[in-house]
Amino acid sequence: MCGIIGYAGHRPAVPIIVEGLKRLEYRGYDSAGVTFAQHDELHVIRAEGKLCELETRLNGQDMFHATTALGHTRWATHGLPVERNAHPHRDPGGRLALVHNGIIENYQPLRKRLKDKGRTFFSDTDSEVLVQLIAELWTSDITLREAFSKALAQVEGTYAAALLNLDEPNKIWAARKSSPLLLGVGVGENFVASDIPAFLGYTRDVVFLEDGELVELEPFSWQVFDAATLEPLEKKVHHITWDFQAAQKGGYRHFMLKEIFEQPAVIANCLAGRVDGKALSVTLPELESLPVPAQIQIVACGTSYHAGLWGQHLLESWAKIPVRVEIASEFRYRNPLFMPDDLVLAISQSGETADTLAGMRLAKEHGVPVLGLCNVLGSSVTREADGVIYTQAGPEISVASTKAMCSQLVLLTLLALYWGRRKGTLAREVETSIITGLLGLPQVLEAELPRLRGTAQELASEYSTANSFFYLGRGPAYPLALEGALKLKEISYIHAEGYAAGEMKHGPIALIEPEFPTFALALNDALLPKVVSNLVEVQARNGRVIALCQSGFELTVDHAWEVPQVYGPLNSFLALPALQLFAYEMAVYLGKDVDQPRNLAKSVTVE
Ligand code: G6P
Repeated sequence: MCGIIGYAGHRPAVPIIVEGLKRLEYRGYDSAGVTFAQHDELHVIRAEGKLCELETRLNGQDMFHATTALGHTRWATHGLPVERNAHPHRDPGGRLALVHNGIIENYQPLRKRLKDKGRTFFSDTDSEVLVQLIAELWTSDITLREAFSKALAQVEGTYAAALLNLDEPNKIWAARKSSPLLLGVGVGENFVASDIPAFLGYTRDVVFLEDGELVELEPFSWQVFDAATLEPLEKKVHHITWDFQAAQKGGYRHFMLKEIFEQPAVIANCLAGRVDGKALSVTLPELESLPVPAQIQIVACGTSYHAGLWGQHLLESWAKIPVRVEIASEFRYRNPLFMPDDLVLAISQSGETADTLAGMRLAKEHGVPVLGLCNVLGSSVTREADGVIYTQAGPEISVASTKAMCSQLVLLTLLALYWGRRKGTLAREVETSIITGLLGLPQVLEAELPRLRGTAQELASEYSTANSFFYLGRGPAYPLALEGALKLKEISYIHAEGYAAGEMKHGPIALIEPEFPTFALALNDALLPKVVSNLVEVQARNGRVIALCQSGFELTVDHAWEVPQVYGPLNSFLALPALQLFAYEMAVYLGKDVDQPRNLAKSVTVE
């Protein structure tokens, strides 16, 4: 998602900022900008599109006297990816400029309050609210540090924010809550950034900021404060030995691994502003004006299709809406029958998959409304759909999709809860249990991921000689079996088939032998006894079995891989990363190109 870099030092700042932004490009972005103070003016220069567009704007600018500056790459969440929404945002008085990464959840009431006081807004973003709020609170009797702290206290949501002030042009103020931000400590120059590569060419000494901390930095000094009390805090300086390549991946060996480990944050991001933790309810303002559909047709490809199959279970059980799920390339060439009050739900990470777009267009030709469930703002799906729900997973770089599916599952859960409530088909106890479970998921998953990876590594060394794999599951675990098989195929090139466990007997069981192991999803649900019977049938034919299971049920298989127990179908949020990590470790063990597997593209924009 967005990237931030700030520099306070002795060199011309803007070229350093642009260089830093280039190092943050991997985060994905759709516009960029810089701010610096020079000749008694706070300059803001922004451009839509890639950094070369910003560089073109900067060409010939008089900016070399500024030795302090801020820069930002924006990955749009609120407001289209156009120049007026690009950061930095200035207060109308032109004294403050701010860059922000995160989501200000209560930006609408804050914006209304500020507008009522006569403030004019120049963008559609949540971020501009923060700079306007600081300006509003910064009265003559308090310091900017105090005003910043007061503003942060009024803001709900997530932020990494950095601020420049025309009156003290060599100083930067910055703060964080649930969005990354760190300091780079140099000699006569200091940095603040979203990630280490942004300043790695200048210093390897890093201070990691924690949530609720505010920092002030100047060329020769920096001080971290508690953002609420403004008490000064002692911070440790860490010396980093990474090279650029490793640092871009945040120290992970591959983007895929990094993205798998980002899933707790992705879940938290998907819930932000949509789940009220006190009322235990779901709000999806995007859908309020739309009627509850009588029937849903989900159209998608690849991993997104598997997410759709999973969502079908929840939408049908909780919202009692009949759901059909179809691969987009099939859907587009049939003559699908639509009923009155149908809705087509197009699921796509990239928003550019040609078949999914064609399926959407077909629905629109029939006058059927289309809702997009999409990760990339401004993509074709979001522009062509009648309504959009953003999955907010951040840029996914590895070709094999991981965190995007996790975000799609969260949003499908929220859709089922939301429509179930509107229709009155969902028992309140189920609703509150699911919402409580969802809110606790990031923490459970965060704690579990290192263990899952350890088990995946052990299993990979044992099973890497297999030529083929079965993945079996029932109910909501069946789409996960399909996804597990797809991940293994995609990156390790081992043949794998995902099957509904009950369908094994109708042919595939003929293939079972010791070198054709089975990966079963034997999670604690009503169908577990049935899955266990299927596994006994596999074992009776000398098939080796890995079973993903939960404590409390004794399974006699070659490898029982236990994951923590969470409420109902939320167990998929632990099973999914286990499947992803198993595929990942198999591919690593076999020396495959994990992030760029042969023959595959991240976004399939042709038929
Ligand atoms: C490609 C990617 C998959 C993805 C599929 C659908 O095949 O390699 O990872 O699941 O396209 O992409 P979408 O962007 O529409 O979700």
